[in-house]
Amino acid sequence: ALKKSANQEALMRPSLDDSGRKRVRVLFGTQTGTAERFAKHIGGELKKHHGESTSVDVIDLESYSAERQLAREKLVVLCVATYGDGEPTDNAADFFSWLSKEVEAVNAGEKEPFMQGVLHAVDKGRGQPVFAAPLRAHQEGYSEPAPEQPVTIICCFCCFQEIAERLGQSLDTVLSLSMPEGSIDRLPPFTGRLSLRTALTWFADVLASPHKDVLASLSTFASNPDEAKLLRSMASPEGKGQYADFIAKPHRSLLEVLRAFPSVKPSLGAFFGCIAPRMQPRYYSISSSPKAHPSAVHITASVVRDVMPTGRVHEGIATTFLQNAPVGTKVPSFIRPSHFKLPPSPQQPIIMVGPGTGLAPFRGFLQERAALRKSGCSLGPAKLFFGCRHSRHDYLYQEELAKHLVGGELSELHAAFSREGPQKDYVQHHMARDGDHVWDLLAKQQGYLYMCGDAKAMAKDVHKTLVAIAQERMHCSGTQAETWVKENLQDSGRYQRDVW
Ligand code: 2AM
Repeated sequence: ALKKSANQEALMRPSLDDSGRKRVRVLFGTQTGTAERFAKHIGGELKKHHGESTSVDVIDLESYSAERQLAREKLVVLCVATYGDGEPTDNAADFFSWLSKEVEAVNAGEKEPFMQGVLHAVDKGRGQPVFAAPLRAHQEGYSEPAPEQPVTIICCFCCFQEIAERLGQSLDTVLSLSMPEGSIDRLPPFTGRLSLRTALTWFADVLASPHKDVLASLSTFASNPDEAKLLRSMASPEGKGQYADFIAKPHRSLLEVLRAFPSVKPSLGAFFGCIAPRMQPRYYSISSSPKAHPSAVHITASVVRDVMPTGRVHEGIATTFLQNAPVGTKVPSFIRPSHFKLPPSPQQPIIMVGPGTGLAPFRGFLQERAALRKSGCSLGPAKLFFGCRHSRHDYLYQEELAKHLVGGELSELHAAFSREGPQKDYVQHHMARDGDHVWDLLAKQQGYLYMCGDAKAMAKDVHKTLVAIAQERMHCSGTQAETWVKENLQDSGRYQRDVW
């Protein structure tokens, strides 16, 4: 079934099920909603192409039992994102572990060309994609309801007034949302009755860039035909370049798009159903140990503040919120289990590579080791490579690290300051200089290597350095060194990455 769906022919001519009806399942694994959008795009195209004669279901992998159902399917399209360092998304975790047991050599990376093939095939299909329908919004009087969660609302963006005006509402309007009858679309962003002010604060991310489907929806609410045309054009497959120039490259937000198209006046249901990007949870590495702080969870984050190409100063929603939140503010949060863990035995050597806020989980590791040491445990060596711009400006937790060195839970600290000298000094440069010892800990003493931080540049460069260290010590080719790293470190869990 998987192979068949890679073929456009098969996609457009789905197999029959036992009762003679055509049936296709589009299963999605998503963390931030992108794969879900793609899955709906695929589902929409298939529905449009086949009409009522085919049953097309777009299903969240979390609510799908592969064990019971998959063997009975005729045609399945899997639309799965990977998350972090190629891990499955939360909603696909059970499916992935089942698949790993059932099918040999499942590797998230291998699925990518396959999905690209499917997407390409569908992309070449005709017409506008079908996307989420507007929700029904039920408006009521003017009394402020109690928020559902015990949360203290501390920030109210001034742009809310502007958005409320555009929606033709007051911020005090109380609304509730429901699905149109027969709709199998995703659930409304919230249940119950909320004021528009509360709904905007917690459920709509108007500073995020709108996707193409949002532009298509906006076009249906434009009273000016020129605006409608331009929006439709940007949303079309042919308008790819226009979309890139106007939205993607300048990171234009929904708010800015609304300002650029003043005749667009969406309904409340459409706004929350298919226009406003939904507020996404933000994930942070925990930077404390439950042994040191049994009733608290620490996070380490840098406040996002960038000037966008349009001149807008983009303040990260979550980090700005946290920065301004008075002590004692309650924040809705949950804990996502992680595979990033210390070795089973505290005697095993560890090497930690964490520049910038990549230091976060290692602060937790060091607190854990300090607690273990206090309880009489003997500890193996621990080496930390930390990097920041300037020793006096952004050297995170400098004093704590110094204390851990004295305590012995940290045996070596290598700090790289990238903007102090004439040349960039990065963590991997220190690793390379310390290559003999790194090699000894990893290859001879069965040590663990942990890396945390930026996935784009840092993680790749550090990985290359690791492979080069192995290559030099083994006098082998780069490919052989790469294989050694994979088989000896990665596959046995001795090389763990928490990168974003
Ligand atoms: P830079 O900003 O001076 O380039 C934390 O963000 C630290 O990581 C900064 O000192 C940053 O340096 C550095 N950094 C940037 N790119 C890196 C890379 N490719 N490898 C390692 N460190 C990097």
